[in-house]
Amino acid sequence: MTNPFKSSELTSLRELPPCAVVIFGASGDLTSRKLVPALYNLFVDGLLPKQFEVIGVARRDMSGEAFVQVLEESLKAHSRRKLSDKAAWQTFSSHVSYLSSEFDAPKGYALLKEKLEALDRESGIQHDRIFYLATSPDYFEIIPKQLSVAGLLNSEHVFSSESPGLARVIIEKPFGHDLASGRGLNRALASYAREDQIYRIDHYLGKETVQNLLVFRFSNGIFEPIWNHKYISHVEISVCESVGVGNRAGYFDRAGILRDIVQNHVMQLLCLVALEPPVAFEADAVRDEKVKVLRSVRVIPQSEVSQKAVRGRYLAGHIAGKDVPGYLAEPGVSEDSVTETFAAMELMIDNWRWAGVPFFIRAGKRLPKRVTEISVHFHKVPLTLFSGEEVDVLRPNILSFQIQPDEGISLKISAKPPGPKVQVQPVNMEFSYGTSFGVEPPEAYERLLLDCMRKDATLFTRNDEIEESWKIVMPILGAWSDKGYTSCPVYGYKAGTWGPVAADELISKRVGISGWRRL
Ligand code: BG6
Repeated sequence: MTNPFKSSELTSLRELPPCAVVIFGASGDLTSRKLVPALYNLFVDGLLPKQFEVIGVARRDMSGEAFVQVLEESLKAHSRRKLSDKAAWQTFSSHVSYLSSEFDAPKGYALLKEKLEALDRESGIQHDRIFYLATSPDYFEIIPKQLSVAGLLNSEHVFSSESPGLARVIIEKPFGHDLASGRGLNRALASYAREDQIYRIDHYLGKETVQNLLVFRFSNGIFEPIWNHKYISHVEISVCESVGVGNRAGYFDRAGILRDIVQNHVMQLLCLVALEPPVAFEADAVRDEKVKVLRSVRVIPQSEVSQKAVRGRYLAGHIAGKDVPGYLAEPGVSEDSVTETFAAMELMIDNWRWAGVPFFIRAGKRLPKRVTEISVHFHKVPLTLFSGEEVDVLRPNILSFQIQPDEGISLKISAKPPGPKVQVQPVNMEFSYGTSFGVEPPEAYERLLLDCMRKDATLFTRNDEIEESWKIVMPILGAWSDKGYTSCPVYGYKAGTWGPVAADELISKRVGISGWRRL
C-alpha cells in the first residue's frame, strides 16, 4: 500500500495503470464544478496516467461534443487553473465522451461495457475502471447493482490474474439518511463489490490542511506528549459558511446541517485531532484508529440532547453588506420546515487520552464568514506569578488549525510588550501555507481522485466509520425530529451573526471557558 504522505511517491505517478473514469451524474453540478476541473488539473500537472479516458453518463440526451462544450464553460468559471492553455484542453477533452442512459436501464450498462471493452481492445491494454457516483443518493444502490449485473464490478471476470486491475466505485455523500439506511446501504454494496472496491468520499479529507493535521501531530515531537487531558482543557471545531442553502433546498431541507456537515466532515476532523498514532500510514491502520475514536465518543442520551446540543435556523439578515432572506423564505423550503441550518454540541471522548476534555462543535450556514477552524485550548498556568503587576487574566495557549480560507497554523502565547512595566499580552506565532510554500494547494477532489487511481483508500471512509458516526448523531436527530419534544427549539439567528445565543451559553456554562473562540 502506498503512503499518501510521502510526496516522493508522486513522482512515480506516470507509471499508474491506464484508467477509465466513468462519471454517473455527468450533467450535474458536481461533475462540472469539481470533478472535471480536478481531472483537468491533474492532467496539466502530469499526474494522470498516460492513458486515461473520462466517460460521462447521465439521463440528458446530449452529444459528446455538447458535453465537452458544457465542461469547457464550467472549467472557465470553476477550475483553479484557468483555461489558458487551449492545446492542453484539446488533448484532455479528446479523452472525454458521453453516454446518455437512465441509471436503472440495463441497456445503458451493456453499452457502457461495450465502450470500455472497445477501449481496452483498441489500446491493446486493460484499463482500470473507476465508477464515480455523482448522482442523487437514490441511485447509490441501483448503479452498483446494475454494474455488478453487467459484470463490470466483478474483478475476476473483467481482469486476468496477471494484471489484476480492480474496478472501483466512488460514492458521494450523503451515505444514508440515518443509521439504518447507512447500514442498509453498506450491506447492499457488500453484495455487489468488495469493501476494497468501495471508496466513500468525504472531500474534507482531501483538503491539504486536513491532511496536515496528521503530519503536524506525528512529525513534530514536541506536541504529542502534551496532546491529552493533562494539558488540553477543550477543543473547538467550527465549520462556518456565509452561504445559505442556495439552490439545494430540495436536498438540504430533508437533511439539515447535522446530516450535511456534522455526521461526516466534522466527525472526520474530530477523528484526526483525537486518534492514537496509527501503526502505519495505511488505509486500514488509519481507519482503525478513527473508528476507535468514534466508538469512544459518549453518545448523548436523547433525554440530555437539550442540554448538550443546540439547533438554529437563519432569519433574514445581512451578509457582506447585502440583505439576504431567512431560511423559510428560500425557494424550495417547505413552509412548516423545522430543518436546522446551525448545530452546536458538546461531545466527550471516553478514553484514556481525552477523559474530561469537552469537544465543542459548531456548523452553520449564513454565519458572518466562511471559516473552518480547529482550536486546541491548553490549560492555564497553575499560578499567576505576575498578580502584583498590571496583569488581569492570563490567557491559555491556543493552537489553531485554519482549514480554510487563509490555511495555516497558529499558536497563541503570552508575551511581555516592551516597556518598564510587567504586562502580559497574547500574541500569535503563525505559519501560513501561502507564505511558506508559495503554491496554491490543490483542490480536495484532485487528491482524492488520484488516490483512488492509486488504489489508496487512506483518505476515504470505511463502512464501520460511517455506521459509528451515525450512531453518535442518532439521538440528536431523534430529539430534533420528535415534534412533541419541545425542549429543543429551533432558535432563530439573524443571517450574518454567529448563530443562536443558546450556542454561546452551551460553551460558556463550562467553568473556565468564556465562549467560542472569535474567528
Ligand atoms: C458539502 C455540503 O459537503 O460541503 C455543503 O453538502 C457545504 O452544504 C460544503 O457547503 C462545504 O464544503 P467546503 O469545501 O466549501 O467547506
